[in-house]
Amino acid sequence: MTTPYWVAGTATTSETELAVHSPFDGALVGTTSQASARDVERAVAAAEAVAPELAVLPAHARAAALDHVSRRLAERADEIAALITGESGKPVKWARVEVTRAVSTFRWAAEEARRFSGELQRLDTDPAANGRMALVRRVPRGPVLGIAPFNFPLNLVAHKVAPAIAVGAPIVLKPAPATPLVALLLGELLAETDLPAGAWSVLPVPNEVAAELVADPRLPVVSFTGSGPVGYGIQDRVPRKHVTLELGGNAAAIVCPDWTDLDWAAQRIATFAMYQGGQSCISVQRVYAHRDVYDEVSAAVVAHVRKLGTGDPSDPATDVGPLINRPAAERVESWVAEAVAAGADLLTGGGRDGSTVAPTVLAGVPEDARVVAEEVFGPVVVLQAVDSVDEAFERVNASRFGLQAGVFTHDLRVAFRASARLAVGGVIVGDVPSFRADQMPYGGVKESGTGREGLRSAMEDLTEQRVLVLTGLTI
Ligand code: SIN
Repeated sequence: MTTPYWVAGTATTSETELAVHSPFDGALVGTTSQASARDVERAVAAAEAVAPELAVLPAHARAAALDHVSRRLAERADEIAALITGESGKPVKWARVEVTRAVSTFRWAAEEARRFSGELQRLDTDPAANGRMALVRRVPRGPVLGIAPFNFPLNLVAHKVAPAIAVGAPIVLKPAPATPLVALLLGELLAETDLPAGAWSVLPVPNEVAAELVADPRLPVVSFTGSGPVGYGIQDRVPRKHVTLELGGNAAAIVCPDWTDLDWAAQRIATFAMYQGGQSCISVQRVYAHRDVYDEVSAAVVAHVRKLGTGDPSDPATDVGPLINRPAAERVESWVAEAVAAGADLLTGGGRDGSTVAPTVLAGVPEDARVVAEEVFGPVVVLQAVDSVDEAFERVNASRFGLQAGVFTHDLRVAFRASARLAVGGVIVGDVPSFRADQMPYGGVKESGTGREGLRSAMEDLTEQRVLVLTGLTI
């Protein structure tokens, strides 16, 4: 049966069928259809039309819708995890984590919707403003175009949809072409709520149609997660729109000489370099370990990586599944080969079977090799010894990206220095850079993007301040 797409909250199909195949074995996972030009226009027109009504929808109504979605995601967790695994190839153990996170993303959005209130500012700091006070409120900037990536087909969609509903902004969502089915299932849950028609649409459309949506003046906000070239292309095309970009990274972990449990650090590094095939913007790609601990860390990382099981992502024992498609796996394989040709030591891995790349550990890699300097988005980690923590900071910063960094230290002074010195959106102390709690501000500096997700931060991003000055008050 064809999965419908959603136009202004209504299930719809078109003649143009889209088949979704498993990246692991090519099996058919499901079919949907491409939103027709007429339906795209209906969705955008409805978003524009409903915007004033949605902006003043009471907080309890927005929160109730978000709570409902959170509950229903939890109830259907197994089915949804299986669908994530089917269409993205993410091992089911990680797909389950993603569903749990999405439950929390919607729940947090509901909670934030209830407390998002604005603030009072006294103005009588000057005689000219005696008896005056400002109420600084936040109002939606307008309907949002959300463009989501394939690597978290549920939770990164949730990070577009949930904050938009929480602030009362209509959203037109374009899921990733490879992974539309989970986003469309989310549409089913949204359709069970009392949100007004037009508040949301989920449109599987090709990238050319997305370009038209980006240019459409009725969608003044664009929230994009994906690659740098596409993200910056959007920003350049619509410089007057409010654009948030969650782009890539080549996240680093630093292991300081004071860290006591090196085996635990190595196990975390191995796991989060390889989880979901390294297809996370904050998977560990670079490790800078102090020379005093380097040999031990290196041996332990290799040992832990060798324990990871590859194979069928629907098998709960599988740790590392396929990449999203074969060309992606071939690219990663070629970058590894290029590093080895440039003199890198291949400590383990290096092979490829179809779209699955063997978990790979490299050392002695030149800094300009693509596995260091670019975003690999594959199960590859590069180890490097450093002579000091400050040298590690310099190496982390010698990147055009800056999303998150992990620092294994027990020393609070090092933690604060890392936070001051590292040019990234977030520093995770005592763990890998891949840690993300969905309510915390998340986003990058430099070429990792602009703007922050995390419910509260995204809600601020989707709204602008509006001042109401009250006069003649006894303050
Ligand atoms: C991303 O790949 O940017 C998202 C990472 C996450 O949500 O854990």
